[in-house]
Amino acid sequence: MKILVLHGPNLNLLGTREPEVYGQATLADINRDISALAADLGVTVEAFQSNHEGALIDRIHAAAREGVAGILINPGAYTHTSIALRDALVAVSLPAVEVHLSNIHARESFRRRSHIAPVVVAQVAGFGAIGYGLALRGLVTKLRG
Ligand code: DQA
Repeated sequence: MKILVLHGPNLNLLGTREPEVYGQATLADINRDISALAADLGVTVEAFQSNHEGALIDRIHAAAREGVAGILINPGAYTHTSIALRDALVAVSLPAVEVHLSNIHARESFRRRSHIAPVVVAQVAGFGAIGYGLALRGLVTKLRG
């Protein structure tokens, strides 16, 4: 079973980007921990980061063609703006879990609205980097029925 892990805009800067909000872990650290947990769970993961909305959408479309079983996605600020990203997830009908490092509901009001949340299995927000592991466990459990 393969899970696609999508990281949206500015997440390539993790480690130096507002560490008081997003933590010290780099994206490479996060991807390494996800891969280690995936091996424990007996699934494979592929991580993809882009600062471009269309590139994330193209990757979601390709995932469906490749037989990916589910998607973990931190859409970054596209969470709050992108109907196109939401439509892509709906179009491919792949189970997805939305992850945020920060608790988006406890921040500025514009971060409280997620266009993604209504079309995913679950949202994990506020646990920092460990949220990805929680989300992966949840998604794999759900996919195994
Ligand atoms: C984020 C929260 C978003 O509001 C923000 O734009 C990000 C990161 C998070 O992981 O907490 O880029 O998705």
